[in-house]
Amino acid sequence: MRRKEFLRLAGFAGAVSALGGLGWMANGCRTKSEGSPIQPPPSDTSTSGRAEGDFRTALAIPPVMAVTSRPSFQSNIARVALIQGKAGEVYGYGGGILGPTFTAKSGEKATFAFTNRLREPTNVHWHGLIIPPLMDGHPEQSIPAAGTFNFQFDINQRAGLYWYHPHAMGSTAVQVFKGLGGLFMVTDEEEDALKLPSGDRQIPLVLQDKRFGSDGSLHYAPTKDEVMTGYFGESVLVNGVVSPFVPVATGWYRLRVLNGSTARIYNLTLSAGAEMTLVGSDAGLLARPEKIRRLLLSPGERADILVDFSTVGIGTDVFLMSDPFDGAGSQGKSAFKILRFYVDRKVTDPFTLPSNLSTIAPANPSSATRTRTFEISNQGGGMENMKGMPMEGDSPGNGMAEMHAINGKSYELKRIDEVLKAGVTERWVFDNSQGDEPHPMHIHGVHFRILERVGGRNGVQAGETGWKDTVLLLPKEKVSVLFQTPTFPGKYVMHCHNLEHEESGMMMNFEVR
Ligand code: C2O
Ligand code: CU
Ligand code: CU
Repeated sequence: MRRKEFLRLAGFAGAVSALGGLGWMANGCRTKSEGSPIQPPPSDTSTSGRAEGDFRTALAIPPVMAVTSRPSFQSNIARVALIQGKAGEVYGYGGGILGPTFTAKSGEKATFAFTNRLREPTNVHWHGLIIPPLMDGHPEQSIPAAGTFNFQFDINQRAGLYWYHPHAMGSTAVQVFKGLGGLFMVTDEEEDALKLPSGDRQIPLVLQDKRFGSDGSLHYAPTKDEVMTGYFGESVLVNGVVSPFVPVATGWYRLRVLNGSTARIYNLTLSAGAEMTLVGSDAGLLARPEKIRRLLLSPGERADILVDFSTVGIGTDVFLMSDPFDGAGSQGKSAFKILRFYVDRKVTDPFTLPSNLSTIAPANPSSATRTRTFEISNQGGGMENMKGMPMEGDSPGNGMAEMHAINGKSYELKRIDEVLKAGVTERWVFDNSQGDEPHPMHIHGVHFRILERVGGRNGVQAGETGWKDTVLLLPKEKVSVLFQTPTFPGKYVMHCHNLEHEESGMMMNFEVR
């Protein structure tokens, strides 16, 4: 997709050529508060963006930068009015919240010059990219304030929607919450041949929930209960915009959805009888399209969804919503709206849904040279460690450090928990059968197949039949995955992508030798 098409959709065309792709979101926000004919009604900040949201602010679309243009990017601090015209501090990789969408064709070389303009160390992890550990933002890699780092790696993998975000020791959650994150779209010939909706018919959607202070600043301060449940925001943002809308035509659209929240799981559905066709998950296309009514999407996971808006009439609002769901502890109690599509024009769209999308060979569990089991119920180590531990009342801190564990061990930066042989097949079993919290488990440096889920929802779900890098375990579930270990030697991590869990110890190092 070309950058210009994204900009037209967002109405940013004039602005970005002058900005050269930086400062896009700050500018977008300014444009929108000046240009929007109807201002959001004044309301309590704790409910703005939920059911009460007005859905009259234009959705922002991140600018696109091809990796072959050797992009430079920075982690910046900016002041942006995300709600009610109150400017607050956010982090981002441009001039506002979030960052550009990097694009690459499989086979290309990526080169980036990165500068850290925060007041604290950070680093960059490329979630879902299969790249050498020294390029992949292991927590021990730290880029100090004002420091720079040149990333260079080859993109040799399936087309898919990947993403990048900080992974610095002890500050991943807060830096992601404050706005650091962006998309990384890889295309390949197999995907191109399908001629899926593109240009302004392909819409990237980064879903995040945020909590705001009364001054409009982003507020991140989990209590110890919130370290257990995850930290939830009262406002749901899409691409950094609270209660957005996007006009659409009566044709097919391709929604590229990332759950970029620290802890919130969405049970995605569409209103007005609009149907979702799932065509891809974390690491690219499924074998065949799947019609779905609802889709649970946990932090770190992606969904590639086609929607045919010709099935709903002109003048209709279609809401992307989250429906209530069961079995996820404190999550899923209520429904809320996320984004409003407004069908405002008629087009003739020649697109027809292909019946086959991608060749996905059946996973062969007998090829595993080794099985490793990871106890993630947190009934032992992590929870035990907590007992009698002095905890701060309502601020994160060292007290948070050991509340979660994997195999009874909380994360230690220098401890190697597992040693893997390079380029062999392994089966990993995540065991949450004694647990009562949901855990989206993520492995760096690999794509895996899901072999089975026992307990809880039982069985491999819609969207789990293709290649994945993150898998949700609801309480009582045990999930087996199969993958080829990285061929690059060095240290990677595996962790829970509930970032409060990750930050409080639910991560381990594995070294490939
Ligand atoms: Cu999104 Cu350690 O990853
Ligand atoms: Cu990752
Ligand atoms: Cu978890």
